[in-house]
Amino acid sequence: MAVKVLMVCLGNICRSPTAEAVLRALAARRVPSLELIVDSAGTGAYHLGEPPDSRSQAVAAYRGYDLSGLRARQVRASDFEEFDLLLAMDKANWSDLQALAPPQRRDRVRLFLDYAPGSEHREVPDPYYGGPDGFEQVLDLAEQAAQGVLDALTTRGR
Ligand code: 4NP
Repeated sequence: MAVKVLMVCLGNICRSPTAEAVLRALAARRVPSLELIVDSAGTGAYHLGEPPDSRSQAVAAYRGYDLSGLRARQVRASDFEEFDLLLAMDKANWSDLQALAPPQRRDRVRLFLDYAPGSEHREVPDPYYGGPDGFEQVLDLAEQAAQGVLDALTTRGR
């Protein structure tokens, strides 16, 4: 059975679409036998229907990830039933998801960077109001944690 992972940030135009595309690409390349379905959503509704931020798209494209077809949507109640893992980019996203989740689904909500234990970061910093370095950092952290997610899914034998 397919494993389903939802990446979650605030706007669904910078961090979570990046994490979505990175995990999908690394899984296809490194563990082609793994049936993995990846999506992303935002806790906020500011950018519904919009493609990812052009700065995220540019930095991702430079590393070979295509974000152009993605469109922002908001987290919905059915996500907690549909997805095995909901991975929050920062602690505010995590708290918002915990508050939305039915009690029996709260254990599906984790911090994305829990899967990058070697990193000094616990959160993926929001790059929206910052400079270009922030977008590069999102890619760096997403590549580290996506590998950790793949390791966890494959060693668990799912
Ligand atoms: P994201 O970045 O949560 O990584 O998609 C943001 C994008 C937009 C806003 C905040 C964060 N905003 O407030 O519009």
